[in-house]
Amino acid sequence: MKTVKEYIRTIPDFPHEGIMFRDVTTLFADARGFRMAVDQLLHPYAGQPIDVVVGLEARGFILGGAIAHQLGKGFVPIRKKGKLPGAVIEQPYQLEYGEAVMEMHDDAISAGQTVLVVDDLLATGGTAEAGIKLIERLGGEVVGCAFVIDLPELGGRKRLEALGMEVHALCDFEGA
Ligand code: PRP
Ligand code: MG
Repeated sequence: MKTVKEYIRTIPDFPHEGIMFRDVTTLFADARGFRMAVDQLLHPYAGQPIDVVVGLEARGFILGGAIAHQLGKGFVPIRKKGKLPGAVIEQPYQLEYGEAVMEMHDDAISAGQTVLVVDDLLATGGTAEAGIKLIERLGGEVVGCAFVIDLPELGGRKRLEALGMEVHALCDFEGA
């Protein structure tokens, strides 16, 4: 029986030379793999109160939507700048080269709501940290951050744990 990690395909030199791209489309495309990933992402939170699932653009939408459906809860997207139609709050974050901005609708979460944050991959943690800040600015309480993949060498887990976050990942890959 294949593990979640075994469904993930590695594409060398994408998007540029020297990067080993961890491609989750092969995991998502497999019925058993996708269900297993969603079930395992949810497992640590069984019995915990979760009001809302937040997915980080773009692959976090696919996982987050499935998780929200399974929990019977709502789904809220955090998107890259300029994509959301309503009034938003913005949070800048660092990229490998330069800066980017994540946005969330300013009425998407109410103060006191408990939130599970979902994305496909944790690298430096910059994207997830921007998401956490947006949620906390609206008074939401992040109960956990769930990822399919952690790249431990890039330090994202330590960065999020330093913010007091509980971090779960289904597998690790060595190297960036
Ligand atoms: C990738 C990945 C995570 C983020 C992790 O997304 O899907 O969201 O990078 O990196 P970090 O921990 O260093 O912030 P990307 O920004 O490539 O965009 P996409 O998901 O929209 O393709
Ligand atoms: Mg992403």
